[in-house]
Amino acid sequence: METKINTLKNQALFEIEHATSHDALKAIEVKILGKKGVLTDILKGLKDVAPGERPKMGSLANLVKNEILAAIEKQKEHLSENYYTSLEQTQWIDHTLPGKMHNTMGTLHPISTIQLKIEEIFKSMGFYILDGPDVETEYNNFTALNIPEHHPARDMQDTFWTTGSHVLRTHTSPVQIRGMKKLKPPFRAIAPGRVFRHEATDAAHDNTFYQIEGLMVDRNVSLSHLIFSMKTLIDQIMEQDSEVRLRPGYFPFVEPGFELDMKCKICGGNGCSVCKHVGWIEVLPCGLVHPNVLRAGGIDPSEFSGYAFGLGLDRLVMMKYGIHDIRYFHSGDLNFLKQFV
Ligand code: FA5
Repeated sequence: METKINTLKNQALFEIEHATSHDALKAIEVKILGKKGVLTDILKGLKDVAPGERPKMGSLANLVKNEILAAIEKQKEHLSENYYTSLEQTQWIDHTLPGKMHNTMGTLHPISTIQLKIEEIFKSMGFYILDGPDVETEYNNFTALNIPEHHPARDMQDTFWTTGSHVLRTHTSPVQIRGMKKLKPPFRAIAPGRVFRHEATDAAHDNTFYQIEGLMVDRNVSLSHLIFSMKTLIDQIMEQDSEVRLRPGYFPFVEPGFELDMKCKICGGNGCSVCKHVGWIEVLPCGLVHPNVLRAGGIDPSEFSGYAFGLGLDRLVMMKYGIHDIRYFHSGDLNFLKQFV
């Protein structure tokens, strides 16, 4: 019995020392110490050993069992160390590099989302999409739009001036002039973009905001064309028949001129800080293009007429999503932006 136990010990220690994986070690452990393992069998057979020999054989078998268990643990540690060393050599892990960022995919800003939808709506009605510069000439921003120097209407849109008779454009209307000079009538176009005003901010006013200019030049353009385009725009974006009202409005570059207001979606028309407690919010001023503006764009007003509108995009987006303060748009607040994922 003693020889059998010692032979088993030597063989087991040899196999353990040469095991090359954790799986192989586990198999050796099961073979020797498992329920039907060789050493387990020996321990079970102790009852048949002569009583005088039994304590000596029992303690030898337990000693061997502990030696084998210790050897298995030692080999496990050795294998783990080898594993990480080989990873470092084969995969060049640099533990000092910053970790990988997870799930940082951004999304479109709600203003961009609605702008793109509006572009699709107008493209489907045969409109071009035009672009204009943020820094505009004083001439395009004011003079060509029938607002000569010293005209009081310039005060309606106080802005930031640069050197050399340039301004941060106060509206997208100068793209009307650029469009007329570039495209041969008849044509229709919209011009989305950022505009700037020297403005005291509140829930519905920012100093940097977005507009979408609309312009159609053709023969016999009437207010019906204008109202159809604007109603299509509002209803398709709001995805419902929205309550709007048209009232007279003054802009030197249109005659007649109107303001199209939407029933305030924030308060349902009851009055709030966004609509300044009147229940309606101004989103879409518009009118028939003034003959002086057509002339400034190189178009003969005796042959062609046109309509124009200037959508306040931020405000439409506020109505669409029930946003109660325009200043969220440029806040960079991720909690706000994540709502539009
Ligand atoms: C204009 O800017 C004209 N160019 C619009 C126009 C175009 C009229 C073509 C006729 C023909 P107004 O200053 O009202 O108009 O601005 C247009 C829209 O921009 C407003 O109805 C409003 O929705 C939005 N808006 C004006 N000021 C601000 C502001 N400070 N912050 C956010 N939105 C504004």
